[in-house]
Amino acid sequence: MSKLTLDDIDVRGKRVLIRVDFNVPLDTAADGSPTVADDTRIRAALPTIRHVLDNGGKAILISHLGRPGGQPTPDLSLTCVADHLGTLLDERVRFSSNTVGDTVEEVVAAMGNGSVILLENTRFDPGEKANDETFAQALAALADVYVNDAFGAAHRAHASTAGVAQFVDTAVMGRLMESEIEALTKVRDEPEHPMVAILGGAKVSDKLGTLRALINTADDLLIGGAMSYTFLKALGHEVGKSRVEDDRLDAAESLHEDADGRIHLPSDHVVAASPDADAESSVVEGDIADDRMGLDIGPATLDEYRELISGAATVVWNGPMGVFEVEQFANGTMDIAKSVAEATQHGAFSVVGGGDSVSALNRSGHTDQISHVSTGGGAMLTFLEGAPLPGIDALTDA
Ligand code: 3PG
Repeated sequence: MSKLTLDDIDVRGKRVLIRVDFNVPLDTAADGSPTVADDTRIRAALPTIRHVLDNGGKAILISHLGRPGGQPTPDLSLTCVADHLGTLLDERVRFSSNTVGDTVEEVVAAMGNGSVILLENTRFDPGEKANDETFAQALAALADVYVNDAFGAAHRAHASTAGVAQFVDTAVMGRLMESEIEALTKVRDEPEHPMVAILGGAKVSDKLGTLRALINTADDLLIGGAMSYTFLKALGHEVGKSRVEDDRLDAAESLHEDADGRIHLPSDHVVAASPDADAESSVVEGDIADDRMGLDIGPATLDEYRELISGAATVVWNGPMGVFEVEQFANGTMDIAKSVAEATQHGAFSVVGGGDSVSALNRSGHTDQISHVSTGGGAMLTFLEGAPLPGIDALTDA
């Protein structure tokens, strides 16, 4: 079912409540104040914000940041995000330390056309995660029209992503939401073959549904990261001290069997006694000794994965191949980033998502060569799985 978009509404003079996903990593500046460490998600929301401002709307931005547990948490305030957004937009961005209520309503009522305000973290209110009607109505009281551009949070049925839509006349998709859906629909529903999916990261449990869906569409699934040790252990290999989800061994085994040879697992590993930067590392083939843990895919695995990626017409990547934050275990992840970029240059359609993969991609310098870099982690996996996304479902049908 398609949904209304920004092109279907006139925003002039309207209070446009825009749900963005400004859940960004923070850093601490030299003076101790919080700063934005990676602004990918803020930049991704700019086309929608600019559209509203340039067309004479009043942009009222709402987002969550982190997981404050339903209470005000100064470290997770969006104040520094408002400053950062102001710099990117080259406009004054007001900030409200209240998310809902009379004071915000008065401030919003006094806003001029083409101005923008960011409200405090929606998750400071317990009503956000509970998808509480009263909180959703209080958000809706700030809006003539609601725009959801927070693809990264679209898998959450929260008050600001889903509940609020019931209490406004019109709820539309923003530009980012549209582009995410377009790119991900292409790989989920009509991928060109051969299609290669690369899945890594710590847990099989986070990706079981997606793996199940992908074994029906992908020609090859390349597994890396700690989740590969759960598969390897399930298949009877020794994995030493590697991180394993023992309660997912049966699920991993049955997936592997159902995939009928299309799931590829690492044949060699970079191992060490610990993931520390100064731990002595080595490459081993096959089984891993009792006192060692796998921390990256090895060179033979990389050769195999590289070759499959280079022959792909569609590539989807979510999750790192190892502990890429530590230099000596970063090679597999960085090489995958390069291989996906090269395949794209040779005509493949590529999608990369998940915070870690995107940060590795940014570090590799290949971000611009990827067809679509998703701002979603869990949302992208949910979409690829074909499961409902409440933040999209709640919008007005076209
Ligand atoms: C994300 O970073 O994946 C989204 O912002 C959702 O955040 P959450 O996992 O805390 O709901």
